[in-house]
Amino acid sequence: MSERAFTLGIDVGTTSVKVVAVEDSGEVIAEAESTQPLATPRPGWTEQQPADWWDGACKAVREIVARLDGRQPDAVGLTGQMHGMVPLDADGEVIRPAILWNDQRTGDAVREIDAAIGRRTLIERGGNPAITGFQLAKVVWLKHAEPDSFRRLRHVLFPKDYLGFRLTGRAVAEPSDASGSNCFDLAKGVWDVDILSELGIAAELYPELVASDAIVGTVTEAAAAATGLRAGTPVVAGAGDNAAAATGLGLSSANPEQGSVSLGTSGVLFAPIARPTPDPMGRVHLFCHADGGYYLLGVTLAAAGSLQWLRDTLFPGMDFAELSALAESSAPGANGVLFQPYLAGERTPYMDPELRGAWRGLTLATRQADLIRAVLEGVAFSQRDSLEVMRPLTSPTRLLATGGGSRSRFWLQILADAMELPLTQLAGAPGASYGAALLAHRGLGGEAQPHLQEVASVAPKPDPALGAAYAEYRALSPGAL
Ligand code: XUL
Repeated sequence: MSERAFTLGIDVGTTSVKVVAVEDSGEVIAEAESTQPLATPRPGWTEQQPADWWDGACKAVREIVARLDGRQPDAVGLTGQMHGMVPLDADGEVIRPAILWNDQRTGDAVREIDAAIGRRTLIERGGNPAITGFQLAKVVWLKHAEPDSFRRLRHVLFPKDYLGFRLTGRAVAEPSDASGSNCFDLAKGVWDVDILSELGIAAELYPELVASDAIVGTVTEAAAAATGLRAGTPVVAGAGDNAAAATGLGLSSANPEQGSVSLGTSGVLFAPIARPTPDPMGRVHLFCHADGGYYLLGVTLAAAGSLQWLRDTLFPGMDFAELSALAESSAPGANGVLFQPYLAGERTPYMDPELRGAWRGLTLATRQADLIRAVLEGVAFSQRDSLEVMRPLTSPTRLLATGGGSRSRFWLQILADAMELPLTQLAGAPGASYGAALLAHRGLGGEAQPHLQEVASVAPKPDPALGAAYAEYRALSPGAL
């Protein structure tokens, strides 16, 4: 086994905590994962116990250290699901379960924030309108719905920063997550105390801000006993999962030409930019990148999730390769069938959790192949919608394709055609934990670069039938484009 310097990246995801060990060459030397429960105590609510994240991280880190024959990392970097609220009291104890990024209980809180601050100000100062999933609405909800909890509240943390707090005893936040709060001034890089005071929320609840590659502190004796790490190991702040994943792909705000598109359960279009210029209508997210720059993010909530729904509902037992092969026997434009993938509401460009999915244009001649192809195209069209909204602000010329859906060459070609951009397919996209491990190397002053393996490139093959289908899809738009 080589003896190069290595770091750990820990990702507090929604379904699991993932840990990866990465050498300064950029090579992954070990990975471990620990799954954790997701609670939905009421429809639309999503919660997790921060203690489960901690236990999962301890388990996965121990497993890695054991697998590396006790070799110890030089530093640890953190990442995780964005937007979540971890409420702590004066003793650093968790007051109630964390409320997550995909929780939808905060409709009234969003209306209150809009009324108090105004949509335009929110977008101009923070890059985003008030959004149900973002952290600020959760704090406002707590104030009204659980006044006793709110009275005890002394610290509000993001999920990965809670892990940092458990590891080092120090509570901080960094810009990539802070910019997903709705109370962060993007241009100044500070908490927006005016917004907080308008809402009657004490600015003291919010932790000190540090850079994404800053060393937050070192592993305490207690954390060392729990994780198997060496006490004194430096812990680097890291970044929210989208910024960390992009760091792992080598996407930099100094090179806005190169972005990424991910076909996971949700579909994500990531475009780095140098300046914090929002879409004036707030239809795409604008967040801080981990490199001191910014990025635009378009989210299709049900991307591969739409295909999964289709398979589970209408084609049980069939695998995705079979579905894809069947879809190939349809034609570009799916013989007039269009699919709107709003099965879970939609973020970009509508920001509307109430939107619903649909097939349009069904006839007696519609075949299974058309239904499937329409789903693949509909998801690609919705990614194109994100690109359209971004266009006045930035124009990536090449996208790295990641996520489970990108393994289908057929879907990738549809995506390249719909986006009219070349795509590069990667072997095993590294994920957010990998980016966090690279940030840990940078925190130590190293220059570790991602180690990526390209499988293939797909160039667009402009097809008028697909262009016409996209025009029709847009004509059905619920109105925000
Ligand atoms: C981004 C977002 C998700 C979460 C999921 O705005 O809500 O990507 O970060 O982990």
